Amino acid sequence: MRIGVLTGGGDSPGINAVIRAVTARAVARDDEVTGILRGWEGLMEGDVRPLDRDAVRGILKQGGTILGTSRRDPYVHGDGWESVRPTIEEHGLEALIVIGGDGTLSTAERLHSEARLPVIGVPKTIDNDIAGTEVTFGFDTAVHIATEAIDRLTTTAEAHNRVMLVEVMGRTRGWIAVYSGLASGADVILIPEVPYDLDEVATLLRRRHEQGHRYSIVVVAEGIAPPADPETPKVLDAFGFERLGGVSYPLAAELERLTGFETRVTVLGYLQRGGTPTAHDRVLATRFGVAAADAAAGHQFGTMAALRAGKIVLVPLEEVCTAPRGVPPDLYDVARTFFP
Ligand code: F6P
Repeated sequence: MRIGVLTGGGDSPGINAVIRAVTARAVARDDEVTGILRGWEGLMEGDVRPLDRDAVRGILKQGGTILGTSRRDPYVHGDGWESVRPTIEEHGLEALIVIGGDGTLSTAERLHSEARLPVIGVPKTIDNDIAGTEVTFGFDTAVHIATEAIDRLTTTAEAHNRVMLVEVMGRTRGWIAVYSGLASGADVILIPEVPYDLDEVATLLRRRHEQGHRYSIVVVAEGIAPPADPETPKVLDAFGFERLGGVSYPLAAELERLTGFETRVTVLGYLQRGGTPTAHDRVLATRFGVAAADAAAGHQFGTMAALRAGKIVLVPLEEVCTAPRGVPPDLYDVARTFFP
């Protein structure tokens, strides 16, 4: 069997572990693996490289993706199925393993339902927001990086008696914010799923100061609404997602005005996606990769490998590509327990 593998959208620590696992599992069965370069772009342009066991040695711990990625898409930048068909046919690909977030997986689902492209999905994003799986690989690494950063920012905030806003990624969902905020003992955590009231946040910060703490840590998910709608035009990527980052700056200005406390901002940005994956993400990514290769061999197309109750299962892609999975109220309630 000839299996193609591609990685699309933003990178996520653990992608190389998936590529390694897919290849090792497939090669052990005498299947052939073709790596598609730069996601859908490589499939549209016929840019591929063969992968064998040697090609994936030593990459388990590497961040990024040896195949490269892009935010180009056959439905946005091409003619859908017609723009990927030549590469599929030329290389005789009988299965395509798509490692991606919800944009990339939605495109895989559409190519499967419209053109019967034999796809298997693997859920990849630091945002942890893909429906159908309890966790995505890369999330644990991002949370570790953010937690360590917040721990460090806490000591400088304390030294200067400052309010420190730490902005984390996560797009429209607050998973990284809640987990890193809980892990670092943040004083306030703001997430897109729960609208905030600026005056209430100011009250919380004042209350903490009244309790004798002259500094505070506020973890801000990048996707929260800005404090006042500045009517700035939204910048969208190829999948129609808004490009985010920086909402903490106007928020900090407003909080400083309301409280009189000196306030600073740190936007963690791409640091959260770079570097080596945690042991947890290496293992999860490896399990997903093996399951995806097995699903290809079993012709279980139109599905995605997922983690449910500790087990790797296959879920229909059409169930996955609905709304992003948000932080449940009970988890946010745990975080709220520690607000001042
Ligand atoms: O979806 C992963 C993610 O890192 C988001 O958390 C972030 O908003 C976005 O990608 C950034 O995308 P880009 O790499 O296109 O700037």
